[in-house]
Amino acid sequence: MGNVWSSEVSFKNGELHLSGISAKSLAREFGTPTFFLDETDFRNRAAAWGQALQNTFGENAGTVYYAAKAFICVEVARWLAQSGIGLDVCTGGELAVALAAGFPPSKMELHGNNKSVAEIETAIENGVRTIVVDSLVEIERVAAAAKGRGKRQHVLLRLTPGIEAHTHESIATAHEDVKFGFSIASGAAWEAILATKTHVEIELSGFHSHIGSQILSMEAFGIAADRLIGLLARYRDEFGQELPELDLGGGYGISYLPEDDALLPEEVLPALHRAVTASCELRDLKIPRISIEPGRAIVGPTMFTLYEVGTTKEVVLEDESLRNYVSVDGGMSDNIRTSLYGAEYTAVIANRVSTAETVQTRVVGKHCETGDIVIRDIKLPADIAPGDLLAVPATGAYGRSMASNYNHVPKPPVVAAVDGKARVILRRETFADLLSLDV
Ligand code: LLP
Repeated sequence: MGNVWSSEVSFKNGELHLSGISAKSLAREFGTPTFFLDETDFRNRAAAWGQALQNTFGENAGTVYYAAKAFICVEVARWLAQSGIGLDVCTGGELAVALAAGFPPSKMELHGNNKSVAEIETAIENGVRTIVVDSLVEIERVAAAAKGRGKRQHVLLRLTPGIEAHTHESIATAHEDVKFGFSIASGAAWEAILATKTHVEIELSGFHSHIGSQILSMEAFGIAADRLIGLLARYRDEFGQELPELDLGGGYGISYLPEDDALLPEEVLPALHRAVTASCELRDLKIPRISIEPGRAIVGPTMFTLYEVGTTKEVVLEDESLRNYVSVDGGMSDNIRTSLYGAEYTAVIANRVSTAETVQTRVVGKHCETGDIVIRDIKLPADIAPGDLLAVPATGAYGRSMASNYNHVPKPPVVAAVDGKARVILRRETFADLLSLDV
């Protein structure tokens, strides 16, 4: 059974507490909806992934690059810098946050299937360590940008190893028919290798793959690693040199529901080590430096969203059973994952004990469409009422980072708590923020 709450969440007399602070006082001070972030848990998870890579791969340990797309803000980028792990950014915007935080570019990599010339130039000018190249066009762009600045750029090639990862179609990324990277099977990857050889400004260091997201078993990661290593062997056979690096991406799943068993670093890294070692032995290759890019697995479990219940209503379904609709003060603007991927979440009444029987419930938002659902089906106490606080755990990844202003709803803040104190690290948007865009 997975734990859906972060380490500093506890329940006292039925009321949720974060770092010892009650849900009622959090709501009073910071309002709702709000993403509450458990700083201790975040720092521990970041450190645990970094240490597990180091402990398992030793001298062959590359870098744990936290995937900023899951969630980033300046304060979190500072924590990551302090933890010593790296950062994966995939747009100029994410890069700007990292630079504003003073995150060391020597521990950053730049991703993206359609990086603009400006993004590539900014990365190279600032000394971003690695650019993970996604297309033939980009090889030319990186070479030109590096040449123009008298630099040689370290790159990896993003490859699609042809794997059907067991996850939602929109977040599986390594089968053949995707926009990302170079296919190994079709020969595109080899063509890209040859293209890098035509530019002295490009230092090809190895290969990258990211097979998908919210994956709960290790098998597909091992197969992907083996296919990348197959290509390392072909490279060695052809050019008489071994490329030193592999980046095996992110995608490690977390517990959204108690029945989800998360992939933890102490399981992931040994499994990757076994797969990499076996593939390298088979082909008589040195073990390359191994990097990974967990996003969700670091930040996902560290936040919960606190909503206030606004209205409830009961509907009679076709089979005569009842469904309680509970409307909260946020919805698809702060959590699009339910409507986009059919994601499942759990929730609790956070401000009190309820001994009422539980009933079939749907938690919905305040937006003007029926698909605005936070939790499609959940059993919640029948006495849930306007003014109750509802906490939804495991919303740290792709929650705030995919938030929108649909219906002109301001995005919620992120409030970090540690050692019994809570503080805003990303403030709530205001109507003035939204109106400031109108010219
Ligand atoms: N590396 C690359 C190249 C990626 O594209 C991603 C995620 C990651 C690492 C981090 O994956 P993670 O460890 O967080 O699973 N919005 C979707 C997830 C999209 C993931 C996109 N790429 C969701 O809410 O489930």
